[in-house]
This record gives sequence, structure tokens and C-alpha cells, in this order.
Amino acid sequence: MKKNVTIEAPAKINLTLDIKGKRADGYHELETVMHQINLVDHIHLQEAEKGVTCRSNSTLIPDDESNLAFQAAELMIEKFGITEGVNIFIEKNIPVGAGLAGGSTNAAAVLEGMNQLFALQVPSPRLQELGATLGSDVPFCLLQGTAVARGRGELLTPLTKGPRLELLLVKPDYQLSTAEVYRQFRMEKITKSPDTLAFLNAWGTEDIDGVCKYIINVLETVSIPMVPEIENIKQQICSLGAQNVLMSGSGPTVFGIFKTQQEARLAWESMKVRYQESFVVSSYR
Ligand code: C5P
Repeated sequence: MKKNVTIEAPAKINLTLDIKGKRADGYHELETVMHQINLVDHIHLQEAEKGVTCRSNSTLIPDDESNLAFQAAELMIEKFGITEGVNIFIEKNIPVGAGLAGGSTNAAAVLEGMNQLFALQVPSPRLQELGATLGSDVPFCLLQGTAVARGRGELLTPLTKGPRLELLLVKPDYQLSTAEVYRQFRMEKITKSPDTLAFLNAWGTEDIDGVCKYIINVLETVSIPMVPEIENIKQQICSLGAQNVLMSGSGPTVFGIFKTQQEARLAWESMKVRYQESFVVSSYR
């Protein structure tokens, strides 16, 4: 019997996202609070004779080397001299091209899953280091929970305390390329930056009003002009009772923070009529 393992791959939202400048390597220097939510893909890994295959229940993601999960498997085989192969099946629930780290979390799950499947006992810091070579969000996806990410996104400070969030997520019928959003980003277009310290104080004391007050994402200056519907969705979710709303990552997904799951669900009843990709979710942990 071939061994197999199934790993949960949760999506993330960015509660704050600040850009400090452009780096010599072409990436942007970030300060962002990332938070995992219980919108989850399931990654099934099965030991194989040789090589990597990658299949999915979604037609929106590639099944070849261009899939980050595929690259993660090849990386593990190469780095740890694995002589067998692996068959990957991605049960996709997270919207694609949404600003929710769907690709990164799948790659992180493959790294973690192969570590288990082949009993490699690779320590977490080494796995995160490998993850960073695949994508800036992969180390956070391996760490899990909530964290401040700096540098390219790979320098992580975990936040252990914090409130549980009740959220409504709405994705307009567009996909945005993260690379394209960053390419179009201009520091001089920023009108307000997050006060990350104030956010962290509110977060650490579970002051939900403070948390809601300090959520800001500077990438909205790029993504909203590209997809004006983001602003429209923000206003709709606000008028349905959210304490505050924000775009996640490079977008275009918008999340609203609600006092209770029941309120989030009521708002979802209205939004789902127009937006198929709407979800009532909570913090993952
Ligand atoms: O690291 P990852 O491949 O996920 O990033 C996708 C794209 O987003 C990069 O090619 C880069 O253009 C941009 N990016 C950036 N600064 C970051 C993270 C990502 O410019 N800190």
C-alpha cells in the first residue's frame, strides 16, 4: 500500500499592509499583518514510484510545473534526495488570483506533507527557508496563525494572542496578478499608511474596535483603480453592518469584520446573490 497524507491549506487575509520602499532585488519592503482564516484547501499527497503529478478539482489552476505546489514537491525531492515520487491532488476551495495566498498555502502544505510522508524531520526554520524560494507568502503559510511579516514577507514575528474574527469575504469576478499590482505600485500615490504599532496594541489586547480602526492596505491605491468594483463592494459590505472593510493582499478580495457570525451570515445572504465567490469565515485558530 502506498502511503498517503492529507494536509489542510488555509487562506490568509492581510489585516494591515504597508510598503516601506522598493528593494535592490526588485521586491518591495513590506510590513504586513497576516491572519489565517478557515477557508481551506485540502492537499492530498500519495507516494508514487517516481516523479511528480499534480491534479485538482479546479480548472483554474495549472497541473504542471507552473503550479507552486508542483514546484514545492520537486524542491523537496531535489533537496532531500527522495528516490520516490509523489502524486498531488488539490481540493480547491480558495478563490484563485484573489489576494488570499491560495497558491502559496498549497505549496506550504506540500512542503509540510512531504516532510511527513517521507519522515524527513526537516525542522520548521529550514522548511520556511525553502518556502521563501518558492514565494514570499509561503513561510507565513508554514508558520500558520497570525504574524507580522517584514522584508519580502519572509521575516516573521508570530502573534500568539489576539481576537477571533468573524468575517465576510467577497471576491469580484476578476483575478489580479500580484506581480502586476506591485509593478504598478507608486509610493507617492499613498494617502494613508497603517499605524502598525497601534494595530498591534489593539490586537494584543483583543480590542476589536481598535483592530477595526487600524486596518489599512496601501495596495488598494493600485487595485481599486484597476478594479473599481472593489470600492463598490467595500461600501456594500459596510452598509450591511460591517465594523470595517478592507481589500486583502493585492486583491481583489474584500473582507468585512462583523461583531458576530450571525451578522456576517445575514450580510452574506445579500451579497451572494450578486457575488458567487462570497464566504462567511472565521479565524483559522
Ligand atoms: O514572492 P512571490 O512570487 O509570491 O511574489 C509575486 C510578485 O509580487 C513578485 O514577482 C514581485 O513582483 C511582487 N512582490 C514584491 N514585493 C514583495 C512580494 C511580492 O514586489 N515583498
